[in-house]
Amino acid sequence: MGNGRIIAGCLAPHPPHLVYGENPPQNEPKSECGWETLRWGYEELRERIPKDEYDVIIVHSPHWRTYIGTHILAIPEAKSISVDPIFPNLFRFHYDLKVDVDLAKSIYSEAVGKKLDMKLMENPKFRVDYGTIVSCHLANPDWDKPIVSISSNAAAKYFNVEYMQELQTHLGDATRVAIEKSGKRALLLASNSLSHRHFTIEPPIPEDMSKEHIYHHGQYLWDMRMIEMMKKGQTREMIDLLPDFTQQATAETDGGSLTWLMSALQYPKYPAKIHAYGTVIGTGNAVASWKPEVGGPA
Ligand SMILES: [Fe+2]
Repeated sequence: MGNGRIIAGCLAPHPPHLVYGENPPQNEPKSECGWETLRWGYEELRERIPKDEYDVIIVHSPHWRTYIGTHILAIPEAKSISVDPIFPNLFRFHYDLKVDVDLAKSIYSEAVGKKLDMKLMENPKFRVDYGTIVSCHLANPDWDKPIVSISSNAAAKYFNVEYMQELQTHLGDATRVAIEKSGKRALLLASNSLSHRHFTIEPPIPEDMSKEHIYHHGQYLWDMRMIEMMKKGQTREMIDLLPDFTQQATAETDGGSLTWLMSALQYPKYPAKIHAYGTVIGTGNAVASWKPEVGGPA
């Protein structure tokens, strides 16, 4: 085997509100509408990265938080209900997904080779986190591609953001090498919001968009700075700035998903396509994609 490649990498945030707004049959709560800018951004992302271009989705999720090392889902299939612990009124999603166990084990082996602490999650009753589910659903609502789900190590909390980035840089490298050896075409999803301070009171109608806006101007400015660097192909500089951004904007980048993605893509110098920016309960969310064969060599 060989000649596998990353066909695209995406910043693919996972607010459950977006699935709630879409009203797929898998989700029990039903909405009138809501968060269209972001949902339509995901529509554009799906047009730019049609599913016939990839064999597998690899998602790195801040909501599968592991405290000792990184875990990788390695059961052939998973079927259960995922309930958002904060928003059970919005997200009770019946998932039924397949896992590319061969690729999961290959990423595991490559990462172990880099001296990272790793574990394969082989518990058949393991409940998949909603970060994984929301990002994968919005990238491919048909669920007809296998996935690999990667946990986020809590190094940013236990140590600091710089140490977290060191780990995720090696994990991104391991992921890319495993993909190349597999011969498969992979779509990578970094499942995180940008600024992440949010409201603590929900409006009576969750999808009442007259109540939706950024938490405060400082967070918005930080988000715009990060997005500007994505658009200019300054991803190495963006990752250098990420510790400050993460701390000052309480950003969800603390989970390492974006750092992992940039490392796997070898820090693109070509522009990201920004499909949308919008808020969900005050948090900043960008849907963005990097397509190496469109953007040129990294
Ligand atoms: Fe989240």
